[in-house]
Amino acid sequence: MVKLAKLSYDGNSVKFPLVEGTENELGIDIKALRAATNLITLDPGFKNTGSCQSAITFLDGENGVLRYRGYSIEDLANNASFLEVSYLLIFGELPNKNQLNKFLSDIQENAIIDEDLKKILDTFPKAAHPMGILSSLTSALIAFNPLKKISLIKDEVEIQNYEYGLIVKLLAKIPILVSWVHRKRSGLSLDYGNYNLGYVENITKMMFQKPHQDYFQNDIVVSAMNKLLILHADHEQNCSTSTVRIVGSSEASLFASVSAGISALWGRLHGGANQAVLDMLEAINNDGGDTKKFMLKAKDKNDSFRLMGFGHRVYKNFDPRAKIIKVTAHEVLNDLGIKDPILDIAKSLEKEALSDPYFTTRRLYPNVDFYSGIIYKALKIPKEMFTVMFALGRVPGWIAHWKEMRLNKEPIGRPRQIYVGENQRPFVSLNKR
Ligand code: ACO
Repeated sequence: MVKLAKLSYDGNSVKFPLVEGTENELGIDIKALRAATNLITLDPGFKNTGSCQSAITFLDGENGVLRYRGYSIEDLANNASFLEVSYLLIFGELPNKNQLNKFLSDIQENAIIDEDLKKILDTFPKAAHPMGILSSLTSALIAFNPLKKISLIKDEVEIQNYEYGLIVKLLAKIPILVSWVHRKRSGLSLDYGNYNLGYVENITKMMFQKPHQDYFQNDIVVSAMNKLLILHADHEQNCSTSTVRIVGSSEASLFASVSAGISALWGRLHGGANQAVLDMLEAINNDGGDTKKFMLKAKDKNDSFRLMGFGHRVYKNFDPRAKIIKVTAHEVLNDLGIKDPILDIAKSLEKEALSDPYFTTRRLYPNVDFYSGIIYKALKIPKEMFTVMFALGRVPGWIAHWKEMRLNKEPIGRPRQIYVGENQRPFVSLNKR
């Protein structure tokens, strides 16, 4: 029997059906609300609003659970490759060997970028932020890969083949763009790499190969990179993913939607937090390492300083990704023989915050970004590139959501508002103002 929620208003009452998810989450289906009552809901930041039904990622913020297509993040991070996880997110199942090989070879086939794109890259000033460059180049890919209008293709199989083509193109080209953005900033030659090495192995080579030296793969680096990319691969309806879905809902192309997702991820309250965490840890270190001083600043409501890497819109007990990444950070620093005072500062901050009532009562815990920057730093990735690495990991998640949004035939995203501006008033000519 369908459960109902009753809304009473102005002497009338209307019933709305409840929607139940596969993990027993309940939501009120208010699709008929406006037609029945002339009311809308007001929910800034969408803290209580579900924008869609999704079968990709399950997240239980109260209990620190994160699963991609039903598989726990712990199992995937410890046992799978990033390419397997990408396939899982996009197509719904883990690939068998043949499917995985075909996926990789289709990506390999598309691992080329028009050389003219390098001219666009050349025109960016040296100081440009890599996230802005990546977003622009991702959008520019459209000009070099003219797209058909999917809405004009009628045959379902043809649509699926066309979408598959777009997906492998994007997965092939984004890592090249990421490595070019990094190499350009570092004054290195722009290469293409070789996906026959493996997806993450190739990314690592494209990032770190020096033009004057033979390249030797460091398995610790590859394994850390694999884990980081998996942990960032999806996180249900966050700011950037919702952006991708909403841009895609206008029938903008996959590349345009992902370019918008990259811009949304850039901000320091979202993906940009990983760079902000390292900036913060370095500032504390340069200031003499007094973590207590910065804890006081974080708690002072007259100070805009926040403890970056702490708090999360959904996780209110712990972020399961932060648990995995904390262990990985220790492993990577140990394995690479790196002693970094920044890690000690991070540990002190974490310890102090976890026993401070300001943080505990607000249920603020370290999020994935608190430790990821420390690993990227150990891998010798410049801090301006941290959020770009996050974007690289998030691409399969964005693709999966764009594909699901299309498959579900979701309507164009278009929220309403409560208008609180001036009522109608007469125009006053310029000389009378
Ligand atoms: N440091 C100090 N105080 C904080 C912090 C923090 N990092 N985070 C939240 N608070 C306080 C707020 O000031 C507020 O206090 P109040 O109730 O006294 O006004 C309370 O905790 C609730 O915070 P909100 O900002 O309302 O929580 P919201 O869910 O909107 O924001 C967010 C979540 C943006 C992640 C926030 O915790 C934050 O700014 N954290 C730091 C940035 C960060 O690490 N972002 C990465 C998120 S993970 C990701 O995107 C990959």
